[in-house]
Amino acid sequence: MIEKQEALLFKKKGYFPQPHILQIEITNRCSLSCPQCYKDKVNEGDMELTLFRKLLAEAENLKVGTLMLNGGEPFEHHDILALLTELEIYPFQVHCISSGQGLTDSILHFLSATNIDLKLSISLNGSTKEIHSLSRDGYDISMNAIKKLVKAGIPTGINWVCRQDNLYDFPRLVDVAKENGVKWISIAANKVSGLSLINSPLDTKDYVFLLNYLEQQEAIDPRYIRIQYCYNLLNGLRKNGVNHHLNRCGAGIFMCNVDIRGDFRPCTHLYTTEHFDSIMEYWNQSEALKELRKSSEVKNKCNSCLKPSPCYFCKAMFENTVRDFYQEPDSCPIKELYQT
Ligand SMILES: C[S@@+](CC[C@H](N)C(=O)[O-])C[C@H]1O[C@@H](n2cnc3c(N)ncnc32)[C@H](O)[C@@H]1O
Ligand code: SF4
Ligand code: SF4
Repeated sequence: MIEKQEALLFKKKGYFPQPHILQIEITNRCSLSCPQCYKDKVNEGDMELTLFRKLLAEAENLKVGTLMLNGGEPFEHHDILALLTELEIYPFQVHCISSGQGLTDSILHFLSATNIDLKLSISLNGSTKEIHSLSRDGYDISMNAIKKLVKAGIPTGINWVCRQDNLYDFPRLVDVAKENGVKWISIAANKVSGLSLINSPLDTKDYVFLLNYLEQQEAIDPRYIRIQYCYNLLNGLRKNGVNHHLNRCGAGIFMCNVDIRGDFRPCTHLYTTEHFDSIMEYWNQSEALKELRKSSEVKNKCNSCLKPSPCYFCKAMFENTVRDFYQEPDSCPIKELYQT
C-alpha cells in the first residue's frame, strides 16, 4: 500500500523510500533444463532458514507488501516447508512460480491448509508438449502439478512466457487452462536467456495479433489474462501508447532482489550483484541502483514515445540494454504502432 507521503517522495526523487516488492531467490537449484532459462548453474545452493527469517523481519519493518519466492525451483528447496511455515506469521502477499517439479504430497497438504496469501503459478509455455518443449522442459510435470493443485482446491494460475514460437498457440492454451480449472494466466515478457540472447522474439505483426486477441478476451473476462507489471511494453501497447509513471521497470524504483547468499541485485534478470548487510543499506547505497535510476532520467529516443510519461522499458528484454542501462532498444513495436 503506497502512502500519500511516499507518493510525494516518489514524484520528487523518482523512486520510493523503500522497496514495496522484494524478490527472494530461495534456491538456485533446479533439476529441469529449459532451453529459454536465464539462470546459470554455478554456485548452486539453497537459502538458509536463518537468512530467510532475517529478511522477512526487515521486510515487515519496511512495510514491503509483496514477496516473490524465486528459483531455481522453489519446491526443490531442501526445507521448503519450514520456509513456508515461517511465512504464515506475516501479512505479505506471496507470489511463487514453479514448474511443479518437487511438488510433494506434503507440500500440497500444507498449501491446501495455509493462511498465506499465496499467488501460485505453474509455468506452461504451450498447450501441447511439442510447443511447450520449444522453450521449456517438463511439460508432463507441469500439467500434472496443475491437475493436482486444482483438485486440492488450491487457487492456481499459469505463467506463460510470450514468444513467437508459442504465440499462435495462446488461444488454445487459454482453453486448456480453463478446461483444467486454472484461475488466471499471467503473460510474462521474453527476456534475455542464459546465452545473452532473446530467443524467438515477437515482431510488430505478432503484437497486433496478441493485442486483438487480448481485446476479445477482455470482453469475456477482464481478470482472466493478466499482463505482468514487468511486461511494460505490452502494458503500454494495451493502453494505445498512453503510459503511467508506475508502468515501468520497477528495479530500484519499487523493487529489488536478494539471492541465496543474501547478496543483492536490482532484479532477478539483472546480474549486477552487490553485498550489503541489509535491504535498506542496499536500497540507499547501491551503485547499480543509482545507475538504474539515473538511466531512466536521461533517455533520448524513448523519452518522448509514450505519453504522458516516458517508456520505462524492461532492461532485460533487449540484448543491448541488459548490461548497459543507458542503451535504448534499436526497434520497438510501440514506436512503430503509436509514435507519430
Ligand atoms: C526462472 S523460473 C523459476 C521458477 C521455476 N523453476 C519455473 O520454471 O517455473 C521463473 C519463470 O521464468 C520464466 N523464464 C525462464 N527463462 C526466461 C526468459 N529467458 N525470459 C522470460 N522468462 C523466463 C520461466 O518460464 C518461469 O515461468
Ligand atoms: S525456467 Fe525454471 S524449470 Fe526451467 S530450467 Fe529455469 S529454473 Fe528450471
Ligand atoms: S529489468 Fe525487466 S524484469 Fe527486471 S525489474 Fe525491470 S522490467 Fe522487471
